[in-house]
This record gives sequence, C-alpha cells and structure tokens, in this order.
Amino acid sequence: MASLPTYEQMLKTTPLTAEMTRLERQAARTWPTESHWLTQFGLRDGQRVLDLGCGTGAFTHRLHALCPASPITGVDHNVAWLNKAQQQTPHAAIRWVEATVTETGLPDESFDWVISRFVLRFLPDPMAAIREAMRLLVPGGKLVLIDADDDLAAIIDPPIRPQTGHGPPWRDQSMYRAGRHLIRWLRQADCHNIQFQAIASHSDLLGLDAFSVTAWGDSASQSWQHDFVQNPDALILLMHFLACGEKSSGNSPIPKK
Ligand SMILES: C[S@@+](CC[C@H](N)C(=O)[O-])C[C@H]1O[C@@H](n2cnc3c(N)ncnc32)[C@H](O)[C@@H]1O
Repeated sequence: MASLPTYEQMLKTTPLTAEMTRLERQAARTWPTESHWLTQFGLRDGQRVLDLGCGTGAFTHRLHALCPASPITGVDHNVAWLNKAQQQTPHAAIRWVEATVTETGLPDESFDWVISRFVLRFLPDPMAAIREAMRLLVPGGKLVLIDADDDLAAIIDPPIRPQTGHGPPWRDQSMYRAGRHLIRWLRQADCHNIQFQAIASHSDLLGLDAFSVTAWGDSASQSWQHDFVQNPDALILLMHFLACGEKSSGNSPIPKK
C-alpha cells in the first residue's frame, strides 16, 4: 500500500470545505448503523474512548452524544482539522490532541476503546497505528477498525466514468484495500473475540444529498456532478466495514513489530 496517495495528497484536488461537508454527511449517513454495532460490541457511557485519526470530529462528536459521560479524545496530525473540530462543537468532554496515529504520546493502557475510522487506508504501515492502539488500550479494551475497500465499495448508477464504473474520480489513480484486511490486522495484533460487520447505505432511502456527490473530485467533475444529481434515476449504494477485536486481559505482552 506504500504507493497509495496519503490523505493530504488526495485532498490536493478537493476544496477543504467540500471535504468537510463530505466527512460530516458521511458520518451522519452511517452513524445509526455504526452506533448500533458499537453498542452491540459493548460500548457504554462512561468508558474512555479514543478516536484515532478524528479529522474534523464528525464521528467524535457523535461518540460524545452517544456517551455523554465518557471522556473522549480525538487524535489527528492535521491541526487545521482539529481546530475546525474544536470550533464546531465546544464540548469540554472532548480532548483534541495533535499527534500522529502511530505515536500519540498518550499514556499506556489509558483507554477502554480505540476507534479508527477511514484512516488506515491512508497509512503506509497500518500495523504501526494498530500497535499504538493496542498500547493505549487497557487489557480487555476494544479496538474498532472502520474502513472501506475499493473492490467492494460502491455502485454508482449511471457510472461516473465508463472505464471505472464506480468511485469518485480520484479513485481512478489508486486502489485502497483496507476493508478486506481488517480481521487479519486485528489477529496480527493478538486481538480475540473478533467481530465483523458490513455497513451499507443507499440513496433510495437516504436521498442523493446524503452522499455529497458535489464534494467528490475537483472542478473538472462539476458537470458530471450536476448531471448526476439532476438525473431522477441516479442512485448510489456505498458499503464499508467495521471490525472489532478485544485486547487480551491475560499477561500476553503488547505485540511488537
Ligand atoms: C478520511 S479522514 C477521516 C476522519 C474521521 N476519522 C472521520 O471518520 O470522519 C482521514 C483522517 O486521517 C488523518 N490522518 C491520516 N494519516 C494520519 C496520521 N499518520 N496521523 C494522524 N492522523 C492521520 C487525516 O488527517 C484525516 O483527518
């Protein structure tokens, strides 16, 4: 995965406000299902939660609403994103930390939950972030990885481009394949009780607006976007994955590289 564009490289062709809108709508769209599964996996109000790679906080704010008594921490290396996150919701209960996901500087065993959503796909070494998450978890704590996989991500009809048939235009240049690896990555980190779910969303239920089509791609995409949202037959079906594993509460050491 080393040759894939980082998140920052991907953003070079996307206006920041458009990306913020996209992240917010993405979180709004899938939160009902994601929060359902987090609760099923055992997330309870009062537990300490880390959102690793929190971006503009679209998901972090929802975690706070779900668990208002929980100390929630968001970590990201993009200080501009963190400032936006802080401005948007001045919840004192959310602590925002500027750091890389592979070296947060936070204390060992200080979280009951670590959740990383749509971040691993951008990392040259996803296991480095997972090792850091395991260091931060208490024994018995849960690690949740949420990501998509471009081979099983989208039906967009009519297609964006005949040659690809799916995905926003920047996907033409790359192939993000995090979704298929989530279970193996959790196993590699010695997690047990691994659970796995697919999260699907369809514009026929949610409306095309929920998919922020106009935030996809660059200005060259605008005529396609306009035609697409005006087309009464247009539809979007997106899918991503959620995997949860538990850190051993025995004496097994934190896995090394
Ligand atoms: C697609 S956004 C997802 C944001 C958020 N998790 C969400 O679901 O809305 C990816 C985020 O990962 C962050 N990120 C990427 N690589 C990172 C790294 N090495 N350390 C810290 N954050 C990173 C980016 O700054 C960006 O905020």
